[in-house]
Amino acid sequence: MPDFFEKRAAIAERNWADAPLRQAAADWQDASRRRDYQYVLEWMGRPIIQDPQDVCYIQEIIWRTRPDVIVETGIARGGSLVLSASILAALSQGEWLETGTMKARKVIGVDIDIRPHNRAAIEAHPLAKMITLVQGSSIDQGIVDQVKAEVGAAERVLVFLDSNHTRDHVFEELKAYAPLVTPGSAIFVMDTGIEYAKEDSFQTSRPWGPGNSPLTAVNDFLALPEGKDFAKDLSIEKRLLITCATEGLLVRR
Ligand SMILES: C[S@@+](CC[C@H](N)C(=O)[O-])C[C@H]1O[C@@H](n2cnc3c(N)ncnc32)[C@H](O)[C@@H]1O
Repeated sequence: MPDFFEKRAAIAERNWADAPLRQAAADWQDASRRRDYQYVLEWMGRPIIQDPQDVCYIQEIIWRTRPDVIVETGIARGGSLVLSASILAALSQGEWLETGTMKARKVIGVDIDIRPHNRAAIEAHPLAKMITLVQGSSIDQGIVDQVKAEVGAAERVLVFLDSNHTRDHVFEELKAYAPLVTPGSAIFVMDTGIEYAKEDSFQTSRPWGPGNSPLTAVNDFLALPEGKDFAKDLSIEKRLLITCATEGLLVRR
């Protein structure tokens, strides 16, 4: 008799091959994006701009890689920083209960525009001591150097990209932050699904769209010599079906 994980893999493969179900998932993405659904959720008191499925996605990536440091571009109101910090805190707490020693883990967040009220709320959060805020453009060399200095000699580093979603910006971010990613860890590129979105599905006018999206950047980056160490990993996406980060998980060999 197949065990649970074999059954689960079979369910996922069946669903992934199910064209009407995949279409229903794409229709949900489209309809929810048109209604700004991604803006209504929060994590531990901070607004988070994510689909609930992507919160599960992020949890699985962090659990798999067990990083010491997570670098995130695109903070907004801090929800994804607090999500990452909360999972890192749980990892460290579990290790402490098991071994009596606690690893200091942290999240480094970069945003070009950290509004004072958002900064104040993030800094007042119970997990604030695990969070370092860096203000500036994520592709500015001075900011990249600041992030590198903050990362220091961390053993395992995971990167999430969720800032400006144009191809050129994400391409520059990938080149700047990929060297920080340790073997076995990953870069998670959000909003790659823009590549497959309907042109008119965004409420407000945006500089990005199909052909000029985070996925365009991912594909161009993977074609570079420095992209050869990375490969797309669809194993979580195939189970989720609904994600804004289509083909967005790049694992470093
Ligand atoms: C989609 S929101 C981030 C959402 C957040 N990760 C969350 O899950 O709640 C995008 C953020 O990227 C920031 N941003 C835009 N351009 C940027 C740039 N050049 N460098 C860094 N951050 C940028 C915006 O200020 C905005 O706060």
